[in-house]
Amino acid sequence: MLTIAMLAALGHHDELKLHIRATQNTGVTQDEVKEILLKAAVYAGVPTANAAFKHALKAYSADGEGGHAMTESSVPYRHERAGTHPPYLHAAYGSTVKRAPSRAPLPLAQTLSETTGPGANGWSWVGAEMADLTRQHKGTPIGERMIVAGRVLDEDGRPVPNTLLEIWQCNAAGRYIHPNDHHDAPLDPNFTGAGRMVCNERGAYRFLTVKPGAYPWRNTKNAWRPAHIHFSVFGPAFATRLITQMYFPGDPLLAIDPIFQSTPDADARASLVAAYDPELSEPEWALGYRWDIVLRGRAATPVQTDAEH
Ligand SMILES: [Fe+2]
Repeated sequence: MLTIAMLAALGHHDELKLHIRATQNTGVTQDEVKEILLKAAVYAGVPTANAAFKHALKAYSADGEGGHAMTESSVPYRHERAGTHPPYLHAAYGSTVKRAPSRAPLPLAQTLSETTGPGANGWSWVGAEMADLTRQHKGTPIGERMIVAGRVLDEDGRPVPNTLLEIWQCNAAGRYIHPNDHHDAPLDPNFTGAGRMVCNERGAYRFLTVKPGAYPWRNTKNAWRPAHIHFSVFGPAFATRLITQMYFPGDPLLAIDPIFQSTPDADARASLVAAYDPELSEPEWALGYRWDIVLRGRAATPVQTDAEH
């Protein structure tokens, strides 16, 4: 059984199938194999465990055993702790009032399709050129040049490698290149505000950009969003995409921003604020901000239920 757990965690599927078939002569039941694969999910992650389930199902089917325990087994993704993520409905954030579901959600059984996706075989098609948002045009964008870097971690502080990070932000004047942005602030012909990169094996990322400005957003009279960068975090499967926002330390707008304040837990909110890091700053070049993203558990970074503003 230990061998099965190790082969599942390592993704050695052909050997896994051989070992599972061999266990049928030793009295090991499908439920026992299911249990060990569930345990593997704790260490190797849900997509890896579900891939192992798929291959276990094939092994049992090939032997005419069926795979009744395996077809019911796809590892459920863990639900968040109460108060550490923003709710669908937060009255102070006006558009959530219309957008939030008014009925209780219907349960949908998780299937293998949630554990597949464009990153299942890596993100080899993603180039490295979009990590620098200051060199996407002929000229240099106006604004305070800054580096934002950090790591993607799991709940135990272990790095999560090969995550696709996508960011979007307004320019230094607080204006997005978007038809719905009518803020009377200049567009910057040298700044698009979109970046993308794949974290390395240590879960580390680094973007070069300019600091975004605050912008008005008509939530209430004279409402302004604090400076922020939107982050999309995409793992190997369709069910592993999360969206959140990173903020800047010392911003006076944080105290009155309904989106930032919609996360009830104070520690969780604080985890959305990057830290100024003098070690990351580069002399005569750019300021450095460090921000780690924790994917789940007690220290999880709050994620949004929408991607506006
Ligand atoms: Fe925004």
